[in-house]
Amino acid sequence: MKLKPEEFTALTSYIYKICGLSIGNEKQYLVEQRLFRLAKTAGGGSFQGLIDKLKINTDPRLRDEVIEAMTTNETSFFRDGHPFETFRESLLPALEQMIVQRKKSAIQRRGAKVRIWSAAASTGQEAYSLAMLIHEHVKANGHKGVALEDFDILATDISSSVLAQAIGGCYSDMEIARGLSAERRAKYFTKTDSGWAVSNELRSIIEFRRINITEPFTTLGGFDVILCRNILIYFDDETKRKIMRQMHQLLSPEGFLMLGACENVQGMGVDFESMTHKSTILHRARKAGTGSDPKLTVKK
Ligand SMILES: C[S@@+](CC[C@H](N)C(=O)[O-])C[C@H]1O[C@@H](n2cnc3c(N)ncnc32)[C@H](O)[C@@H]1O
Repeated sequence: MKLKPEEFTALTSYIYKICGLSIGNEKQYLVEQRLFRLAKTAGGGSFQGLIDKLKINTDPRLRDEVIEAMTTNETSFFRDGHPFETFRESLLPALEQMIVQRKKSAIQRRGAKVRIWSAAASTGQEAYSLAMLIHEHVKANGHKGVALEDFDILATDISSSVLAQAIGGCYSDMEIARGLSAERRAKYFTKTDSGWAVSNELRSIIEFRRINITEPFTTLGGFDVILCRNILIYFDDETKRKIMRQMHQLLSPEGFLMLGACENVQGMGVDFESMTHKSTILHRARKAGTGSDPKLTVKK
């Protein structure tokens, strides 16, 4: 079954509309490969059949199957290493200070909790990696008045199937072997018949939700740290700008945005101040007329 140029155009426009993925002409093979099965089943054996079905179909399940087929869910625990080192070494002490100061000050009415968002969380390894570091930090620094429940992680993704695994918190031998030390595996995971199950303690600070970040998301409220890693590369400039504008708005004045290694905030039309901690670039939203919280400095 070959994908014709006009079918490629119709399918890539549809994909762009439902999840913002921008697919260049050189990726015709990818669409052909990934939608082959759906064209055979839902399309009755042709790509045109699938296009016709998508045009008249009001059942969100078919749309979701296209999303499942087209999204790339590659991830691992502590992916790329250094961003998590930066989080541990530099952001966590700053966040701890933030919590202590918020607890002391009038900002309490807003809640002292630190909110962290893993914006394209895939199967959850990014969020659980953060939770492990928070757990370790709190255990080592609990005397300073910070507790695990002072942290809230929101982990979101557009794909229901990856979110289902993230919520289940269960990983195969292969997934658990990627990026996780034997020590952390023993500390946070239990071997079950279906795989390695993450501890309830880590789960307790993470909420998983289905969010399409190409749609408006400012109702999610403010965040102190946003991780939006290895996802902007799939979007065009217009979509990236829309996402960055909203993230800038949601980031607290003293908060930080972390992107993937090949992603940046340049040319996005939003005012971020970027700084480097070892190999990790952190972006802070410059905001006019704020200053209720003291600025927290990142140790270099
Ligand atoms: C390559 S993974 C990155 C996972 C993780 N952030 C990391 O760096 O390891 C990209 C994720 O973005 C999700 N995604 C794609 N389009 C999205 C959209 N419009 N809104 C939210 N998530 C999306 C995919 O389902 C996939 O799980």
